[in-house]
Amino acid sequence: MKKNLTQKILDSHILEGTAKAGEPVVIRIDQTLTQDATGTMAYMQLEAMGVDQVKTDLSVSYVDHNTLQSGFMNADDHAYLQSVAAKHGIHYSKAGNGICHQVHLERFAKPGSTLLGSDSHTPTSSAVGAIAIGAGGLDVAKAMAGIGYSIPYPQVVEVRLTGHLQPGVSAKDVILELLKRRTVKGGVGKVFEYTGEGLKDLSVYQRATITNMGAELGATTSVFPSDEITREFFERQNRLEDFMELKADEGAEYDDVEIIDLSALKPAAACPNSPDAVRDIEEIAGQKVDQVAIGSCTNSGYEDMMKAAAILKDKKIAPGVSLVISPGSRQVFMKLMETGALQTFVKAGARILECTCGPCIGMGQSPKSDAVSLRTFNRNFYGRSGTNSAGVYLVSPETAAASAVAGVITDPRDVVVDEEMEKEPVFIDDSMIYAPSENPEEVEIIRGPNIKPLPVNEPMQDEIVRKAVIKLPDNITTDHIAPAGAEVLPYRSNIEKLSTFVFRNNKEHFDEVCKANGGGIIVAGENYGQGSSREHAALAPMYLGIKAVLAKSFARIHLANLINFGILPLTFVNSDDYDRIDEMDELRIPNLKSLESTTDLVLENLTKGESYPVKAMIYEKDVPVLQAGGMLNYIKAMQ
Ligand code: F3S
Repeated sequence: MKKNLTQKILDSHILEGTAKAGEPVVIRIDQTLTQDATGTMAYMQLEAMGVDQVKTDLSVSYVDHNTLQSGFMNADDHAYLQSVAAKHGIHYSKAGNGICHQVHLERFAKPGSTLLGSDSHTPTSSAVGAIAIGAGGLDVAKAMAGIGYSIPYPQVVEVRLTGHLQPGVSAKDVILELLKRRTVKGGVGKVFEYTGEGLKDLSVYQRATITNMGAELGATTSVFPSDEITREFFERQNRLEDFMELKADEGAEYDDVEIIDLSALKPAAACPNSPDAVRDIEEIAGQKVDQVAIGSCTNSGYEDMMKAAAILKDKKIAPGVSLVISPGSRQVFMKLMETGALQTFVKAGARILECTCGPCIGMGQSPKSDAVSLRTFNRNFYGRSGTNSAGVYLVSPETAAASAVAGVITDPRDVVVDEEMEKEPVFIDDSMIYAPSENPEEVEIIRGPNIKPLPVNEPMQDEIVRKAVIKLPDNITTDHIAPAGAEVLPYRSNIEKLSTFVFRNNKEHFDEVCKANGGGIIVAGENYGQGSSREHAALAPMYLGIKAVLAKSFARIHLANLINFGILPLTFVNSDDYDRIDEMDELRIPNLKSLESTTDLVLENLTKGESYPVKAMIYEKDVPVLQAGGMLNYIKAMQ
């Protein structure tokens, strides 16, 4: 049978299940990655599973999120991560070496392999023909323990690229076009596989921008073939031994097709506050800009930086603009120094940040009140910048640089300089990546006071009777549930403290409401939990006693995280019933001892004396996990 690329890679990794769209399959994971904000929990879970040495081909622990050390907390986390990595067979990329996805793409991603990462933008590495998927930390811990990863076998959408990109239009505009067409929930259960003549116009860095932001579609992942362009990338990375050619069979079939004519694309922006609120730059040009940020795991490769540098050369940024630049990796940073691009940035008036996530995760550089902030990042959810009243626009590096100079949103086609990019060997130095210890038994794990014990859930009772402690609208993100930002992020290893911030922008003192009511049930609209893979968005509510989430629909990774932590995910059979429930209504879900994935459940509203049919969003394999009170309890019971 002729196979597309997704099928080729997935099918060679299936451990259990049938390769049929929508059916659950368990796949073998070759590589894992974590970043520090999700990593501490993942490694505590790995320790709790009693795993001595990881079972993957390669596992890497990156530090890139919490690098502002304004207290002991982040540094405690880093020390824990470094020691736990050394002990358990994991590579450790220390703070300053770069953003996880950028470094992984450059140094470790491999065509034909599977990668599971506890960060939703893990699909970045699929730019070289891998299947890279974002997941919660517990799933990554399980993969490190040698347990397969379970997903519904995806539908594969062919994204056929035709034509050629015009000067001033780049990869960001391609993925924004797809977001405009398919929206932030249009990719659920799907892999977007890129094909066509237009591939030749896209370098690996550009492909990585597209696979990175495929996460915003809610997709399982996005994938590019591994071709001559990929080979050249590996050669320049001095990793030719990791390269292999890989593409779909001629005439392979797809579940769906989307054709994008690159020649017709214009520079675009995702307007506040959603990555799919896409408009052409020419429609919004002329608006005053207060801040421009170039970087993040989406657009901080060498080429992105050089394109921005070409526009900024011999120019000054507008007086009202603050321009910040964060290169994606130390490799890129060194190259910018070598080529003089760093000088160009500094001369133009830019502020140079570390090669970390920084402003993307609200770690510094929050814009002023009501600001217009142009960012080359991948998310512009409400409040993520740290300034709730600021409007964040997601744009290409070309648009960002052109607008920084003009002081207003500017179409880069008016100013772009089409320069041939230098193809010299890149700067390679892996000295900030530490291999695991050869004497793991001698390594002592460092646990500072910020490393608190892992909370665990209790087994599920036969019925849940709790109040609807919060009622939420559509598209609630993990940033709403467990916020990011410099005030909160240092507590990623301290769930007790972190839980005091849950839903802080939706409801004051949510934690206290939960405590006063012995926990509760969350009621929400469509696409609940979209955004990131952060399992803290399930773990902190679990800590507060949340027993179930009743939503119109769920985002993929968050759904898995809820099950992993023993929170029952339910959807309305009739979505109009959402309107019948009020905050603080008392709800009852009976007969959970006989729960099955196919059971029709009835939710009783004891306050209103009504009942509504609901559906548990689970597979059969999830039942014992939920009944045990979550995956850790389940695994321990199995052992
Ligand atoms: Fe970091 Fe932002 Fe990417 S937080 S991993 S740069 S989405």
